[in-house]
Amino acid sequence: MPTSHNRIHVMHGVNLDQIGRRDPAHYGGMTFLQLEQAIDGYAGELGLDARFFQTNHEGEFIEELHRVRDLADAAIINAGAWSHYSRAIGDALQFAGVPVAEVHLSDVMAREEWRHVSVLAEGCIATVSGKGVEGYRDALVALREALRP
Ligand code: DQA
Repeated sequence: MPTSHNRIHVMHGVNLDQIGRRDPAHYGGMTFLQLEQAIDGYAGELGLDARFFQTNHEGEFIEELHRVRDLADAAIINAGAWSHYSRAIGDALQFAGVPVAEVHLSDVMAREEWRHVSVLAEGCIATVSGKGVEGYRDALVALREALRP
C-alpha cells in the first residue's frame, strides 16, 4: 500500500533523453521512454509514486531542484556529465530539502578518469552506479527507507 510520503521525483539531466542513441555497451540500448517505464514499474511495485523530469539545460535542472520540496517527498537524480563538474547543482542539493539518491546507468568508475568523481555525491544519501536500470530500483529502495516514519 502506498504511504503518504511516497512521491519520488525522477530527474534526468543532459543527454539522458538520447539514451537510446548512446553506446549500448554503457547504456543498455533501451529508449528513454522504456527507461522511464521501467522506473515507473519499480516504483509501483515498491508502493512509490514516480514523477519524471528531464532537461538538457543546467539552469532548468537547478530550478527544478529549487522546487523539488514542493513537488515530491524525495528525488532521484541522474545528472549525466554534470555529475562530474557542476558545483552549482552540488550547491542546490545542499538545500533541496528532500532526500536525494544519485544513479548512473553505466559503471562510471570503470570508464574515463574524469567520470570517476561525482561532485553531487556529497549531497545524496546514496549513489548507485553500473547496475543499469536496476540501479533505479536500488535508489527507490534507499529512498523508501529514508522516508520511513
Ligand atoms: C551517466 C554517466 C555519465 O558519466 C555520463 O556523462 C552520462 C550518463 C550514466 O547514467 O551512466 O551522461 O550519468
